[in-house]
Amino acid sequence: MSEHRIECTVNGEPVAVDRVPSRRLLSDFLRDDLHLTGTKRGCETGICGACSVRVDGEVVKSCLMLAVQVRGRDVQTVEGLARGEALHPLQESFMQCGGLQCGYCTPGFLMASCAMLETNPSPSADEVRHGLNGNLCRCTGYTQIVESVLDAAEKMRHGN
Ligand code: FES
Ligand code: FES
Repeated sequence: MSEHRIECTVNGEPVAVDRVPSRRLLSDFLRDDLHLTGTKRGCETGICGACSVRVDGEVVKSCLMLAVQVRGRDVQTVEGLARGEALHPLQESFMQCGGLQCGYCTPGFLMASCAMLETNPSPSADEVRHGLNGNLCRCTGYTQIVESVLDAAEKMRHGN
């Protein structure tokens, strides 16, 4: 199997990794090569959304993408959401509104929610549900997740 050098930007920092097999998944590259274990492996078939990250701003399921596909591109993972000690408003709201229980699905929900709020800063509850329909949660029943995103949207509109 051929191997490649991958240079890209991850959470604003340039990274370079040599000898990445051509078939390495992006999710495995992030977790095993870069040790960014916030991105979760779930179904590994593109259904659950636990592995969601952003590539050039677009939400992608990193279990469906090869690491070589991010060469020269900008990747954001859940580790890139907080600013130092300051949590992102979405992270705060998920904690405050009960948007997570076991937390396994949470990184994916956070990345998808973040992208959604950039394009629609004032979503309705239905729009939140629709925007997050690529992410599954086995614990919360979704109500608190939707409430968390609406709460974060309000915080972000008020500049918090
Ligand atoms: Fe990628 Fe489930 S692990 S969608
Ligand atoms: Fe457990 Fe969502 S909080 S799967």
